[in-house]
Amino acid sequence: MSKVTLRIDVERTKGRIAPEIYGQFSEHLGRCIYGGIYVGEDSPIPNVRGMRTDVVEALKEIKTPVLRWPGGCFADEYHWRDGIGKKEERKRIVNTNWGGVVEDNSFGTHEFMDLCGQIGCEPYIALNMGSGTVQEAADWIEYMTYGGDSELAALREKNGRKEPWKLKYLGIGNESWGCGGSMEPEYYAGCYRQYRTFCRNLSGNQLFPVACGPNGEDYHWTDVIMPKLKWQTEAISLHYYTLPTGDWEHKGSATEFDETEYYETIRRTWRMEEIIDRHLKIMDYHDPEHRVGLIVDEWGTWYDVEPGTNPGFLYQQNTMRDAVVAAINLNLFNKHCDRIVMANIAQMVNVLQAMILTEGMKMIKTPTYDVFAMFREHQGAVLADSVLIGKAPEYFSESASVVQRGKGDCKLHITLSNPSLHDSCETVIELPVNQSFCGEAEISALTGAMDAHNTFENPDAVRRQDRREKWQGVRAAVVMPPCSVLSINCPVSYEG
Ligand code: AHR
Repeated sequence: MSKVTLRIDVERTKGRIAPEIYGQFSEHLGRCIYGGIYVGEDSPIPNVRGMRTDVVEALKEIKTPVLRWPGGCFADEYHWRDGIGKKEERKRIVNTNWGGVVEDNSFGTHEFMDLCGQIGCEPYIALNMGSGTVQEAADWIEYMTYGGDSELAALREKNGRKEPWKLKYLGIGNESWGCGGSMEPEYYAGCYRQYRTFCRNLSGNQLFPVACGPNGEDYHWTDVIMPKLKWQTEAISLHYYTLPTGDWEHKGSATEFDETEYYETIRRTWRMEEIIDRHLKIMDYHDPEHRVGLIVDEWGTWYDVEPGTNPGFLYQQNTMRDAVVAAINLNLFNKHCDRIVMANIAQMVNVLQAMILTEGMKMIKTPTYDVFAMFREHQGAVLADSVLIGKAPEYFSESASVVQRGKGDCKLHITLSNPSLHDSCETVIELPVNQSFCGEAEISALTGAMDAHNTFENPDAVRRQDRREKWQGVRAAVVMPPCSVLSINCPVSYEG
């Protein structure tokens, strides 16, 4: 068994963890929207105005803060007018990116905004820059946010919504270096500036424009767009997926893999740290005032699809390996909370590293879902200084945050992950002498074999276990079993 000390100082804090780091992404892809979220009002599956009640309730439980839509690659072929008005009159189009299936547009702007309202999260709209027009984008913003007397506001009212919606997050281009238009960064920057000019703040609505950032390790992209966009954007987005093999042709199975492939997945997910650090360095060079934030608006594991499913639907299972990947990334994002203002795991339901899988009436929560539940106390808390001392198992990860409750009194939230498959790790959590644990620690532990997962037949095969312990004084210890994620919530008092 390894033994490490995690030294935490609740008085040395490093900035607020944006709740939006725990954001989600939903695309018109496979069964994410249709079947996974939206089943229509006439479905026998319990729903509110067509949205699955079980899914909405599950997303509320993990305090989903923000939801990105309608894509992904789909966004750059999405024409918003196709998705408004009477459903039977909506245009049927081919979803060319994802399986060539017919998209009937029954889920459009009104439905998306309704979904966000039901979940209680912020909408994050990705505009069509790739195949749309500046006018179309400007019209969509007016349709959604203008409260005065205009043709588009009247059309919105005719379609059932008098009050304008509040819309903050607005992505201008998705993967414009790839499916969003195969653009060079210089060209993209010019297009962005043009679009940005016509994305207006109307009726008191304040947009937070997000520029398309780099593909993983493409540092050149960041270096080119930053000086051109730093006064025009609030953030740039980064996409990085974890592929066990690194090979897009043979990504590997979600459930059948050996230890070598497991560790390779963990190693590859840790690359996120270097990728973030190097992009931030370039951003700092061009923007020393830190005006522009970083958003990781697509991240997660990407495997070969489940055997027998449509290759264009990107449906994959989710194991303890995914739980460890999620914990590593979320701990990393927490630790970079001074610059990372949002992150959106791909995707929320039935696609890639999903929180939720559905099959007709049935719905299961994945191990990744549990990690989001265990980390939810970090949302909006303040990052606390934490340092590991001793030799932890390779790829061990941690972060800590505090919520102030009164003078000298706070709630400390710690999240840990031990990716080792054979080595347990005794972790002694140590506070400075003037600080003290003072009450009941709520501990949640998620553990299992690396390939353990939930199925529709056995929906709780992997589930977090909760326990409570009395913690007093400056030290307390937990044992992290192999392949585990742990969260701890404990009151701490201190003399300032
Ligand atoms: O999440 C699936 C796809 O991955 C998205 O549509 C695209 O943006 C990315 O390449």
